Amino acid sequence: MNMNQLKKSAAVQAAKFVEDGMMLGLGTGSTVYYLVEAVAKRVQEEKLHIVAVSTSSRTAKQASELGIKVIDLNDAPTLDLTIDGADEIDENFQGIKGGGAAHLLEKIVATNSKRNIWIVDQSKLVKKLGSFPLPLEVIPFGCEKLFQRLTAENLHPEYRLDENGQRLRTHNKNFVIDLHMSAIEHPHILADWLDHQTGIVEHGLFLDIVNQVVVGKENGVEIINAPR
Ligand code: 5RP
Repeated sequence: MNMNQLKKSAAVQAAKFVEDGMMLGLGTGSTVYYLVEAVAKRVQEEKLHIVAVSTSSRTAKQASELGIKVIDLNDAPTLDLTIDGADEIDENFQGIKGGGAAHLLEKIVATNSKRNIWIVDQSKLVKKLGSFPLPLEVIPFGCEKLFQRLTAENLHPEYRLDENGQRLRTHNKNFVIDLHMSAIEHPHILADWLDHQTGIVEHGLFLDIVNQVVVGKENGVEIINAPR
């Protein structure tokens, strides 16, 4: 099976956790694309009443086109469940997200949700976080100073570029700096430090957030409960 088939199998399985009447958070990315398809199919076939909040315009567009009602987070009651992808998940269920530069909105939605499920293919499960570069969403004003500080801390920052070689702009017109650290020994300590650097709007460390991980594997789908 190729990676996309594994992503799809995890997404289809996770769509089964959606229940009638739920207020649902929808993540962003190629795995979530399959999720939205699968949820929309259930909404249509089983006549489910689902209202969703989206973490990107991409997902919102797909969901609306497929008949899922999408509303603004500000107009939504507490979300029952958010399903999203992830870039890395370690043995303690800590994660890196933001490969699609949507981690700010994803974290806002995740932290306003009663339950969070991540859907991934098996390659995303790692012993230690950090092989995947850690994304930071940063305010353009004064970002060179921040970049210098990150360099001085040996965090190996690099601006993320778009397809035209320009600095990528997020939904909120900020830049993304990726930290190429190869291994993150102490995710909580790093997260705390990053939380205190003015100019960083949000980082891609998603710690103590996920409740369940649905993994597409060669030999089937595994559902793993995080101990929280
Ligand atoms: C976007 C994300 C995605 O969830 C993450 O990058 C996984 O993407 P994919 O499902 O395409 O592998 O965090 O900001």
